[in-house]
Amino acid sequence: MSEQNAENTPYLRKIRSFVRREGRLTKGQAQALDANWASMGLEHGMGLLDLAAVFGNNNPVVLEIGFGMGKSLVEMAKAAPEFNFIGIEVHKPGVGACLMAASEAGVSNLRVFEHDAIEVLADNIPDASLARVQLFFPDPWHKKRHHKRRIVQLEFAENLRQKLSIGGVFHMATDWENYAEHMLEVMSAAPGYQNQSASSDYVPCPDYRPKTKFEARGERLGHGVWDLMFERTA
Ligand SMILES: C[S@@+](CC[C@H](N)C(=O)[O-])C[C@H]1O[C@@H](n2cnc3c(N)ncnc32)[C@H](O)[C@@H]1O
Repeated sequence: MSEQNAENTPYLRKIRSFVRREGRLTKGQAQALDANWASMGLEHGMGLLDLAAVFGNNNPVVLEIGFGMGKSLVEMAKAAPEFNFIGIEVHKPGVGACLMAASEAGVSNLRVFEHDAIEVLADNIPDASLARVQLFFPDPWHKKRHHKRRIVQLEFAENLRQKLSIGGVFHMATDWENYAEHMLEVMSAAPGYQNQSASSDYVPCPDYRPKTKFEARGERLGHGVWDLMFERTA
């Protein structure tokens, strides 16, 4: 659904950061879901997770919200076997594509949810359990009247802080300058975080973040890119 259609949908029960898009699974995505869900899929109904039991080790956990088709997430998991990765995405074809890429790459340190990240954070992720949370190129909700749908809000920052370990980092990136400014404003006002930027605004893209699909699209449209990193200090 487009932002325009979303606006015309009456009686939205809850303000969400996404609109469920219809999308047919390709044969490959459907097969990847069938073959890999039992070993890589996590479900909201599982309740609070024991992350060491999920991964079979105590490695630090990186959680990514809205991984899209998952290609860059799989690249990161492959490049960093000393970390465990959890990806969350609501778009089923994206989850299928991610599992397809993960099985091709042979990664064993990645698990995925097909669910709203807000609910997964609240119900499945233990407090102080995450070394890093990644939010790369979230839906920008361009129009001012839609800004309330942006996932980065003060309440979100606070809920997410509880899930980061002390010293854990919330890493955001966007190609939409107005959203970058919004992220900076919200995160600078949120208690218990310290901006990792020497100039108190943006940071250079760290080596571990590959170019994502939406980033490449933004580049083609002539957009800039802004990375922000905030550490949990309290
Ligand atoms: C603009 S895309 C960016 C995808 C990817 N990170 C990239 O850079 O290519 C944003 C993604 O976030 C997902 N998303 C938005 N809100 C979400 C939520 N609350 N929980 C899980 N996924 C969400 C959307 O389905 C969409 O795939």
